[in-house]
Amino acid sequence: MSILIKKMTQAASILTLFAVLGAGLVAYSFQITQEQIKANQRAALLRNLNAVIPTNLYDNQLFNDSRQMQNEAFLGTPEPVMIYRARKGKQPVACVILPIAPNGYNGRIQLLVGINYDGKLLGVRVLSHQETPGLGDNIELRRSNWILKFNGLSLTNPKESGWAVKRDGGIFDQFTGATITPRAVVKAVHNTLIFYQHYRDEIFK
Ligand SMILES: Cc1cc2nc3c(=O)[nH]c(=O)nc-3n(C[C@H](O)[C@H](O)[C@H](O)COP(=O)(O)O)c2cc1C
Repeated sequence: MSILIKKMTQAASILTLFAVLGAGLVAYSFQITQEQIKANQRAALLRNLNAVIPTNLYDNQLFNDSRQMQNEAFLGTPEPVMIYRARKGKQPVACVILPIAPNGYNGRIQLLVGINYDGKLLGVRVLSHQETPGLGDNIELRRSNWILKFNGLSLTNPKESGWAVKRDGGIFDQFTGATITPRAVVKAVHNTLIFYQHYRDEIFK
């Protein structure tokens, strides 16, 4: 009987050891993966930042010169939104705002909007979305050049009514069979420009 108890205790100890080792391994690989995901996101963000703000425009460290601002009406989310500020010789030259287009076909579309100090768009990129492949994903630069249409535009170019897809009387193409996605992006970029116009001083403070 005592041999049986001893064997059972041994087996239980071995099982416990493997369970602890297994859990530790899972926790460790989860942490490594999380760090890798964060590093990849940061690298993608930096690539996109530099795609919309040419590096010769500024001499500060964008990642170290950021702030968050909250404005659901214009930035599309109740959460604070990241803003990166570009300066040259301490003078503000541009900023990059990361607003949300809340009403995509499949939910939120995260955008990156680069704006010159004078309010002209340097460029727009899509950071993440769940739009339908082959329909709504033409907002991605790797799928089409549609997003480049924003380059150089501002609140006065085009005028207010132009800030819409063509179907709604504006200047932006919709996609074949997919108007909801481009409509959401155009509205979010327009709102971001209005936000910038209102809060420029605070953005660079
Ligand atoms: C399965 C499915 C997925 C769709 N995905 C999108 C999408 O990602 N983006 C979009 O704008 N419209 C999408 N649509 C189409 C919309 O329902 C809607 O019909 C369209 O955006 C309206 O544009 P239209 O007037 O040019 O057809 C999808 C439709 C279906 C049936």
